[in-house]
Amino acid sequence: MIQFDREHQVFKIDTKNTSYVMGVVSGRYLAHIYYGKYIESTDLGYVLDLDSSSLQDAVFNEGEKVTLLDRLPFEYSFAGTGDFRQSCLAVTSSAGQQGVELVYDSYEIFKGKPGLDGLPATFGDNAETLEVTLRDEVLNIRVVLSYSVFADSDALMRSCRVFNDSTEDVYLDCALSACLELGGGEYQTVALHGSWARERHMERLPVGFGTYLVESRRGISSHQSHPFLALVSPDCTQEHGEAYAMNFVYSGNFFASARKDQFEGHRMVMGIHPDGFRWKLAAGDVFQAPEVVMVYSDAGLDRMTHIFHDLYRNHLIRQRWVYQKRPVLINNWEATYFDFDARKLLSIAKEAAGHGIEMLVMDDGWFGRRDRDDSSLGDWTVNEEKLGCSLKSLVEQVNALGLKFGIWLEPEMISPDSSLYREHPDWALQIQGREGGQARNQYVLDFSRPEALGYICQSVFQVLKSANIEYVKWDMNRPLTDAASTYLPKEQQGEVFHRHVLALYAFQERLLEEFPDLLLENCASGGARFDPGMLYYSPQIWCSDDTDAIERLKIQEGTALIYPLSAIGAHVSDCPNHIVGRNTPFATRSAVAMAGTFGYELDITKISEKEKGQIASQVKTYQENIDLIQQGDYYRIASYQRNNLYDCYEIVSKDQTKAVVVFVQVLAEANMHNRLIRLRGLKPEAVYQAGGNCYRGDALMQAGLPLKRLRGDFQAEVISLVERK
Ligand code: GLA
Repeated sequence: MIQFDREHQVFKIDTKNTSYVMGVVSGRYLAHIYYGKYIESTDLGYVLDLDSSSLQDAVFNEGEKVTLLDRLPFEYSFAGTGDFRQSCLAVTSSAGQQGVELVYDSYEIFKGKPGLDGLPATFGDNAETLEVTLRDEVLNIRVVLSYSVFADSDALMRSCRVFNDSTEDVYLDCALSACLELGGGEYQTVALHGSWARERHMERLPVGFGTYLVESRRGISSHQSHPFLALVSPDCTQEHGEAYAMNFVYSGNFFASARKDQFEGHRMVMGIHPDGFRWKLAAGDVFQAPEVVMVYSDAGLDRMTHIFHDLYRNHLIRQRWVYQKRPVLINNWEATYFDFDARKLLSIAKEAAGHGIEMLVMDDGWFGRRDRDDSSLGDWTVNEEKLGCSLKSLVEQVNALGLKFGIWLEPEMISPDSSLYREHPDWALQIQGREGGQARNQYVLDFSRPEALGYICQSVFQVLKSANIEYVKWDMNRPLTDAASTYLPKEQQGEVFHRHVLALYAFQERLLEEFPDLLLENCASGGARFDPGMLYYSPQIWCSDDTDAIERLKIQEGTALIYPLSAIGAHVSDCPNHIVGRNTPFATRSAVAMAGTFGYELDITKISEKEKGQIASQVKTYQENIDLIQQGDYYRIASYQRNNLYDCYEIVSKDQTKAVVVFVQVLAEANMHNRLIRLRGLKPEAVYQAGGNCYRGDALMQAGLPLKRLRGDFQAEVISLVERK
């Protein structure tokens, strides 16, 4: 529910458990008042001293204007006129001068939640939106701040639009999406960091004076950092304490910071990274900033996670697939790399079909002359000579074995060694007079150039139409550098990064319009673009190229902090693991891959008969738990990242009648006895059966579930709990 208390000039946005409050200071500035646990009253102006004559005097005391701007907790901060903290909006005028002052203009409250032009965003019924308009009277620009809530969620969605109402062009140097002012108090940051094959490891640090920054300037949300930032109370655990989180529904450069100021207030912001960004806002134009999802929890990280998971399942991932059972796939990448033909793929498919696997995915290497990673991106024609048959014939043969067929693509790229590049060298991103930097022997296509985008769209669609292809793995294997365009005029070169993301979104939207039943899995050298923006298009995202079961524990813990398990691409691969060289039991690899979409990525024709023999029952276990995995509440019970010994998570069905616990003992310890694991989220009075034993819910949550001592490193156990009526 959203309301405006006219008497106190206070806006209040409530969800079931939270309140978000802001106020108009002396009819002039929009200031933040409160965000946190639900409060009944709207009379909260006192928090800011809104009614005091000293504040009103300060607003109208031109002699101390800068002093005031430097201390007000702004709802949307602006640069160059006195607020020296992090700005959300920075504008260069037609005269080349910087400086903005946003004053309150008007508001509107309405039912529903409008889409964001050209951008992914949460959607759904039962929404309510508040739009507050701010204005800069000198520049004649208007900023519309948008706040939406859904009746079934405690999340708050924010974004904004900047309108140029003047007759002159201006330039946006920074247009962030959201700002949150938290007052004094102690906070810690929770963020996700990593590298290729080590994505999204959690890190927690105390906030001191100065700025804590999480960012990507790679043109993608990146392996290295993640468009997520939370400030938590120092006592915050999984079950207790406060968390304020922001997650960016965007897949390119981002900037998120938390800054403690001289008065011990904390300002947290999130948006498109201002570095490398300069948007020409022509007279009459509007710029749409992407959405930020804000979550407040007063019940620790578990609650925060549940709010994100439910929101993304019910309001971000398209309903076509979100709760749909996905086919258990086998991917040939780690099985063959580039060295395959149709015969090899069919031998894998044939073996897989006998063990309950449902789809074959043909990975990189089927097009142009691609036998290594140094050619042919952009030449999306099937290499029939290599395959030994047409794509249609291959797919028909795979289908005849009872398997669906999926294919790998990397549409945003161009290899210097490709017919496309030889014909259109100007279609790659490039800086005039400078040789472009290659990564994985490739350049990035200039998607701001309509004919490049159109050509790739058309050639990809042609491939997809040529056979019964039911799944696409859309890859993206390098960051953007040399981010300049031979197509855009010089005053728009600062738009290249953002235009790439917009074109990517438009492309995937068209793809889904054209092929509405396609199961799309996004991927970027593993998990370099695992973000809510991509989730809007694909219900699942490849989580990491690191398929080692033990390394995956940390990666999947960090990923599942925000994203539902149904979104996390996870496969059982071969040992020794190709990335880290570790040997783990086949059963453990399967238990770990269950915290995701579950599939295989190995040469099934070459593994031992013993391992082969386990596949059908692994697939069955996964399928038996599919409802829990796709719909349940996820609890992080123990973190290997923190305890260095073991990992445990639990999923409980929404009606609390079923649960599954996955325990992985990473390292065995000497002279250790049975372990008790305290579960969460069960009905205290219900009796649950686990194996041959029955326990009351309160006992499982207080005293714990007893786990027999496991012998050896890297052992896993999957325990199902069912309520006994
Ligand atoms: C990326 C992906 C891998 C695989 C290769 C193919 O690295 O993350 O899964 O598809 O590309 O080149």
